[in-house]
Amino acid sequence: MSAPIRAIINVDVPGPVISRHVYGHFAEHLGRCIYGGFYVGEDSDIPNKGGIRLDVVQALRALQIPNLRWPGGCFADEYHWRDGVGPRAERPQMVNSHWGDVVEDNSFGTHEFMALCELLGAEPYVNGNLGSGTVREMSDWVEYLTRGDDSPMAALRREHGRDEPWRVKFWGLGNEPWGCGGNMTAAHYAEEARRYATYCRDHGENRLYRIAAGANSDDYAWTETLMKALNPLGGCGRDPRGLYQAVSVHYYTIPGTWDDKGEATQFTEEDYYRTLVRAAFTDELLRNHSNVMDCYDPEKKVGLVLDEWGTWWNVEKGTNPGFLYQQNTLRDALVASTHFDIFHGHADRLVMANIAQTVNVLQAMILTDPDSGELVLTPTYHVFEMNAGHQDAASLRVDTPDGLPVRTVGQEELTTVSASASRKDGRVLVSLSNLDAAEDVAVHLDLRGGAVSDVQARILSAGSLTAHNAPGHATEVAPVAHDGVSRTDGGLRVELPAHSFVTVSMAADS
Ligand code: AHR
Repeated sequence: MSAPIRAIINVDVPGPVISRHVYGHFAEHLGRCIYGGFYVGEDSDIPNKGGIRLDVVQALRALQIPNLRWPGGCFADEYHWRDGVGPRAERPQMVNSHWGDVVEDNSFGTHEFMALCELLGAEPYVNGNLGSGTVREMSDWVEYLTRGDDSPMAALRREHGRDEPWRVKFWGLGNEPWGCGGNMTAAHYAEEARRYATYCRDHGENRLYRIAAGANSDDYAWTETLMKALNPLGGCGRDPRGLYQAVSVHYYTIPGTWDDKGEATQFTEEDYYRTLVRAAFTDELLRNHSNVMDCYDPEKKVGLVLDEWGTWWNVEKGTNPGFLYQQNTLRDALVASTHFDIFHGHADRLVMANIAQTVNVLQAMILTDPDSGELVLTPTYHVFEMNAGHQDAASLRVDTPDGLPVRTVGQEELTTVSASASRKDGRVLVSLSNLDAAEDVAVHLDLRGGAVSDVQARILSAGSLTAHNAPGHATEVAPVAHDGVSRTDGGLRVELPAHSFVTVSMAADS
């Protein structure tokens, strides 16, 4: 093993706060995410409350999920909210043309979603239909959800059994308008976003945080157009006007091609490294979007929201290609852990991120068996749980003056050790990933600015990169206490076995 990597952390020098919302989630009417995943209906044998699965809720509560984006995704731009309120038996059906061309019965609608958020303790992030809806429809939905008096929409909500308005902060102005959300140009969408945002009102005490649908990956020109549109009379360096409070971006980790993305559980070591290179690109992506935003908004008043991220593989064999059901290995866990290090490093601009998606779709936390209903927690779930202490914590810089190990992958370079740290409520949490498939490394944490005690470490790893959890072997990849941490002069030595994720939590007295 090579010499330990030196990492200096000043535990008494807090940086920007890591918004808890970067640990956000996404639930779309897609495949078995809502139906079968979150929602089984009141008549199901699976224990539920109002049709919502209680085992799924219980598992997700351990993640302290801060927000849940719904109803899409592409589905959001063909969803008409009025079809999903009122007596379930009377709700009209529709065709979910994006995802499997299946008939949607609208049994999970606004009230069911808000009940789910309440059970999870998560804030709702509602994505309005800008692609095929109307300004009035979106405006009415905001009124229905958030208005307290006897306005027409508030009265309709009461007729449907809910007296008090809900609090809804996060509001999406459509989804992927450059593609499934209407195939618009950036300039056209910017005009639409301004128009829709105008009529999404703040009712009573409720204050909306309107999120304009942003770029496809590295389309930095899209972000620039949205930033310019915030203040059409101004320009670079002027104050943004505030019709929408944030712009989003979507980026998926896909090491293959769009037509052959690669298999979730059968991959080579080369595929593994190529995946991590694609995941690491998120840092450059966020930096470049932030730089564009800095020009128009140097005070960082406008938020950046990565409201779709994660791995996207070929669907599991024998499953509906339109349902995007995929397994999840230790590789996915390391994609997640490195994303979080990147998110923590962009705490000054990144206000939210939403993994796609929470249950049974893409890089899920939970997989449910369609026949037995049995639930399995994925390796990615465990990363969210191990990292929960970073939510709303002050970021701490991790300086590595002697550098980090680097590996050449094709034409690119991958830094194979990733780290981040934060401090909250008198405790410091350090997250460390060793991405090397074969080499163990050790990190010497040089902890300055306060004495530390009560050190607790956990590790997530497995015998192989392809290890995953499934019914019958649900704990192949699960965290255990890590005994590879020892005291040194001024800090801690942390052993990082090959392909592992480690968290070290400690009390700090400064
Ligand atoms: O998450 C799956 C789909 O990916 C979403 O519906 C869409 O926004 C994106 O293209």
